Amino acid sequence: MYDFDTPAPRTGTGAIKWDLRQSAFGNGDALPFWVADSDYMSPPEVVEALRDAAARCVFGYTLPTRSYKDAVAGWVARRHGWEIDPDWIVPSTGIVSELAHIVRCFTEPGDRILIQTPVYDPFAGVVRDAGRTPVENRLLRDGALRYTMDFEDLARKLAAGVKMMILCSPHNPVGRVWTREEVCRVAELCAAHGALLVSDEIHWDILMPGRAHFSAGSAGTPGNLIVLTAPSKTFNVAGLKCSNDIIPDAGLREKLTKWKEIRHLDGPNSLGMTACQAAYTHGGRWCDEQNAYLAGNARLVYDVRAQKLPEIGIAPLEGTYLMWLDISKTGLDSRAFCDRLNRAGAILNDGYRYGDDGFVRLNIACPRAQLEAGLEIIAATLAGEMKR
Ligand SMILES: Cc1ncc(COP(=O)(O)O)c(C=O)c1O
Repeated sequence: MYDFDTPAPRTGTGAIKWDLRQSAFGNGDALPFWVADSDYMSPPEVVEALRDAAARCVFGYTLPTRSYKDAVAGWVARRHGWEIDPDWIVPSTGIVSELAHIVRCFTEPGDRILIQTPVYDPFAGVVRDAGRTPVENRLLRDGALRYTMDFEDLARKLAAGVKMMILCSPHNPVGRVWTREEVCRVAELCAAHGALLVSDEIHWDILMPGRAHFSAGSAGTPGNLIVLTAPSKTFNVAGLKCSNDIIPDAGLREKLTKWKEIRHLDGPNSLGMTACQAAYTHGGRWCDEQNAYLAGNARLVYDVRAQKLPEIGIAPLEGTYLMWLDISKTGLDSRAFCDRLNRAGAILNDGYRYGDDGFVRLNIACPRAQLEAGLEIIAATLAGEMKR
């Protein structure tokens, strides 16, 4: 059994989640549940591969090797049932920066790009920063706080002229793992209306029990598709800056590769590729155990909610380690809610940034004891707040 209970020492290491607590939130001692990385250690197999690489004492210019691409393709086939040609892989240095390049490469200033809100806030950011226009297809929410897609609105907006759609699959922050039917319908609509589908699947390995991810790559529209993947969330290696675009269509692949080449954008660093290859070759069991551990953490949140936080709602967590909590019954908006919590000693993300001020986002990828302490702080703060 792997160990997820021992906290990784992160304070003073430059970890954004820990070292920005004072400057960004005014409380350097608060427990952080914001930035989407994990507070336990990466798999020992990954650490060992990095140690071996360091022991070779050479860190020169490095290409993605055949064995690297085979390891990525192997993971995609084994874990996600999508058989890819290793040549479809275009290594990149992070998904947000890659999205920014893709937006600029495949669309023109003023073009409309569709996102499904509430959603990971850099999506709208990369679109706006490139002078393109974000078009919102808001997700629908039922009484049990489960989200679905509004396909009528999606079809209407695509028909009105959208160049690209950015799908978040699984979805941050609402926690949905989109079904085969949902993903296929999105892919078909994009193909029918000539919108390039860019599917950000960075959270694809992090699944609650009984859930299976269906990649947009398996939806049958390969000429119109870019899938963005990374080992960074699954194996806690975001700082190593290594991600992989999977682009089945040779024309799209060549266009993007050329676009990046003439702008002198480099590929991932050698240690990032070392970690990625080791994770995708040896990390299957660790990934399964992490999912079981995260399911235990999610259960803890549900239990504490039932006992101590009746005014909080939880969007059912299907995938990702990010829980989406409805705080609208507390009488506070998400920014005021997070502000109170920061002062009390727990840092969560306000939902305002994702497009819903009635929700907050809680990252549960941490040792259980840390989560327990954070939930105590939330319960105590809320109890005080409700007495006012
Ligand atoms: C949906 C989604 N895409 C991308 C990222 C960030 O990816 P990267 O660090 O590779 O830019 C995150 C991080 O939280 C995310 O949730």
